[in-house]
Amino acid sequence: MVFETVGVVGLGTMGAGIAEVFARAGIRVVGVEADQEALDRGLGHLEASTGRALEKGRLSAGEREEILSRVTLTTSRDDLRDADLVVEAIPEVMEYKVALFTDLDRICKPSAVLATNTSSLQVTALAAATGRPGRVVGMHFFNPAPVMGLVEVVGTVVTEPGVVTSVSDLAVRLGKTPVAVGDRAGFVVNRLLLPYLNHAVTLLDHGVAARDDIDNAMRLGVGLPMGPFSLLDLIGLDTSYEIMGVLFEESRSERHVPSPLLRSYVAAGWLGRKSGRGFYGESAAESTPEKAAASTVRVEGSQELAATLAAAGFKDSAEPDVVLRVGEAALGERVVQVRVTGKVAELSGSVLTSRQAVLCARDLLRVAGYTPVPCRRSVIDALLYAHLNDAVHMYSSGYASIADIDAAMRLGCGYPQGPFELMESIGLAKVRDGLRALYAEHLSPSFAPAPLLDQLVTAGLDAFPRA
Ligand code: CAA
Repeated sequence: MVFETVGVVGLGTMGAGIAEVFARAGIRVVGVEADQEALDRGLGHLEASTGRALEKGRLSAGEREEILSRVTLTTSRDDLRDADLVVEAIPEVMEYKVALFTDLDRICKPSAVLATNTSSLQVTALAAATGRPGRVVGMHFFNPAPVMGLVEVVGTVVTEPGVVTSVSDLAVRLGKTPVAVGDRAGFVVNRLLLPYLNHAVTLLDHGVAARDDIDNAMRLGVGLPMGPFSLLDLIGLDTSYEIMGVLFEESRSERHVPSPLLRSYVAAGWLGRKSGRGFYGESAAESTPEKAAASTVRVEGSQELAATLAAAGFKDSAEPDVVLRVGEAALGERVVQVRVTGKVAELSGSVLTSRQAVLCARDLLRVAGYTPVPCRRSVIDALLYAHLNDAVHMYSSGYASIADIDAAMRLGCGYPQGPFELMESIGLAKVRDGLRALYAEHLSPSFAPAPLLDQLVTAGLDAFPRA
């Protein structure tokens, strides 16, 4: 299959990004929008994105002109008649998409492949709406499309042999890494990513920690490129909520119940970047560095933390202002439990701990160079371990290989390591034990260690089986 001319229908953020990716790879693009106003907005996205690359010196003015000249913009779908492939990126409403695919089926030549960039709808249902179900696939890009290196290529039970391979080869030509998967709700990335993001909203809703603290914990503690709330704002809260709904519809799992707080934000019209406000949006107040209110501190359970605080000028005393306790919990008015992950220090008080002690702990940890994350219990453990556990379940279900899941999360979401690589770095036993502790506390199936993880640890292994 040769793809020389590609149509992109819908030039919102994703569609315009996809059009840019094709044009950059030397492919002619016909970009279609419903009316002139939407078309102008689409052109605006293309100009802004390539303009930014020009400013950063990643494109020359000539290259930028060439890229833009490969894109023809039109409001007429009939202009897609010569396209070898059409990628659809219109709003996620099944009726609109079915109507579009019926239309494309009529307009496009019989050999053309029709692809959807849907993140939540069933590709098989769209295929079945056409007279060429064997040539309909999912081609799922990630936001921002010009940057993220992954394309999920979704084949269905009716896809003709060779179509998924041809579209995957095309993704390689675009400079992306394809991961070929079957038509299951959320595919690989959204099925893993969205429950984790939704879980972060639940922690916020339950007052476990504040928005910025949760974001800091995952970004600075785990090393993810964005915290869950910044990422929800990027993806769009409406899109995220829809994806959760589709996951729940298919799995009926507790893990996939959409957060009521997310639903409220969507109902309020707070959709993230696209509407100007989501979890972020109000201009953040400038935070002035706070001075530590504590001058004496005792650290119990970590010589490393004790040394860092001593180096930052804090002294031990018989009656310290605050006791930082690492490891085994202890109770006391001035005792604050601390867990250090990278440069993040999660801290929580017990029922006996005074608010003053928690505030002292927060301020002195900040002065000592940590990012303090006050929380009722560890945000990192709850969010990360449940997320990693989901990846083990996915592999065990036979949906995707370990290599594909790792590649998908690295390239689709910019993770420094895929979930299996991450579990191996942390230690499988630590992850399993962390899950067991969470399960004992919450009795939620999300935290019950996946049988494969449990068995590997029981067998004394510290790596996952790879083919
Ligand atoms: N368009 C084009 N280029 C962009 C861009 C955009 N919207 N945003 C960033 N870039 C480019 C920048 O120009 C820059 O390029 P150079 O390094 O060559 O100069 C590069 O990307 C990095 O950008 P920044 O330095 O401005 O910002 P950053 O280092 O903070 O990275 C990020 C930004 C790439 C978005 C990074 O934060 C990241 O990887 N975040 C995770 C995003 C993610 O998870 N996406 C998937 C969401 S799920 C999804 O999309 C699927 C779905 O169906 C919902």
